[in-house]
Amino acid sequence: MGTNVATSMVIGTQWGDEGKGKIVDYLSERADVVVRSQGGNNAGHTVVVDGKSFALRLLPSGILYDDKMNIIGTGVVVDPKVLLEEIANLEKEGKSAKSLYISDRAHVILPYHNRLDEAEESVKGDAKIGTTKNGIGPCYADKVNRIGIRICDLMDPVVFEKKLKFNVELKNKMLTAVYGFEPVNFEEILKDYLGYAEQLRPFVKDTNFAVIDAIQSGKKVLFEGAQATMLDLDHGTYPFVTSSHPVAGGASVGAGVGPNYLKNIFGVVKAYSTRVGEGPFPSELLDETGEYLRQTGHEFGTVTGRSRRCGWLDLAVVSYGAALNSLDYLAITRLDILDGLDEVKICVGYTRNGEAVQGFPASLDVLAKCEPVYETFPGWKTDISGIRKYEELPEAARRYVERIAEVTGVKIGIVSVGPGRDQTIDLVNVFA
Ligand code: GDP
Ligand code: IMO
Ligand code: MG
Repeated sequence: MGTNVATSMVIGTQWGDEGKGKIVDYLSERADVVVRSQGGNNAGHTVVVDGKSFALRLLPSGILYDDKMNIIGTGVVVDPKVLLEEIANLEKEGKSAKSLYISDRAHVILPYHNRLDEAEESVKGDAKIGTTKNGIGPCYADKVNRIGIRICDLMDPVVFEKKLKFNVELKNKMLTAVYGFEPVNFEEILKDYLGYAEQLRPFVKDTNFAVIDAIQSGKKVLFEGAQATMLDLDHGTYPFVTSSHPVAGGASVGAGVGPNYLKNIFGVVKAYSTRVGEGPFPSELLDETGEYLRQTGHEFGTVTGRSRRCGWLDLAVVSYGAALNSLDYLAITRLDILDGLDEVKICVGYTRNGEAVQGFPASLDVLAKCEPVYETFPGWKTDISGIRKYEELPEAARRYVERIAEVTGVKIGIVSVGPGRDQTIDLVNVFA
């Protein structure tokens, strides 16, 4: 076991939207199989192919190639309606989803999950998380509570009806009596979902064995992370997190693959920081530089259209992610967005009450009191989006990138200088 294993993984190291989709699409060219292992349609992965932009939510980013197997693994929560819309949109663009496998063990998002997501947020006041309202948290909560409905249940009309009835009765009591929300309609959901079931049936498989077989037969398997380390349910800025495990280990559980099979782990690092939703953000810029990053980087959510909060790159965050994910390489993205700045800053750690902070604080009160320690670098004031060789990057840009590697202790694998497939400087050629 472990010999000739050709796998790679792409993980977000910050608060999401680092450019994982772009990096997965780039690496997919040389892969055979692409696997999503957690999260759901809270993800929004934008991939640009030949100038055309695709916003993927549930479909693995390998779907844009014709010859890859694409897997929605066991740990993903699947909204059938959203998935079918995504497949239809893909087909409109002349692409096909015929290579898609959906795990029969994945959990299904139902309309009461979306409504509960909204209801739960509505009672939290200032403590609201700022979720995507896609029902992600309530669906994972049902899974943990062992009352969830899985894809294999959806495939069996008798089982589905029984489980749906139980859940709708329970959820409607909560929606109406606890939250004062409208109930959901059992008959309507039953009819709609039995229809979705027939449309999805051809894609449903035991994906655990599909992934393991692929690895054992020497295929190149790429794991596509969604969300990011700081949004991890256990390791992120709880409770301002998502309800799954975006860290590298989460892919092992979510895809049903032992940790020995996880190699070539890329941590995607956006060259500055962004966050959507609530929660602490020590290097946030509430000034014109933050606005410059938002406008220049078009930092508005793929899923919700919400304005993303922007700040300097925070290496206290990335170093924490480097450790938690046992990163092999960094993939630095959106370096080109910094092209126009006179100077750029990196937060290399925090102080609290004048003393250096060790590790990464668990308590949000402590984190909120941390002061970022910045190093300032001269900007490069050059358009780097056409550069394809590392040594051709301006010296100031290389210095910036190399400082990231130095502080985090992780090698640079990829530097991305634009959204396109070709706008990629690859220093390690994984899967070559
Ligand atoms: P993800 O959720 O991590 O996949 O990231 P998103 O797709 O939500 O956001 C990243 C955005 O940056 C997308 O619009 C990408 O097309 C774009 N992108 C990725 N890498 C680069 C890059 O190096 N430069 C620029 N300018 N855009 C990039
Ligand atoms: P990708 O894969 C950025 C954030 C939400 C909210 C919190 C919880 O595109 O990087 P949820 O709906 O998951 O219960 O919301 O997590 N969030 C993301 N932020 N990128 C994402 O995915 C996100 N998925 C969830 O904004 O703060
Ligand atoms: Mg995104």
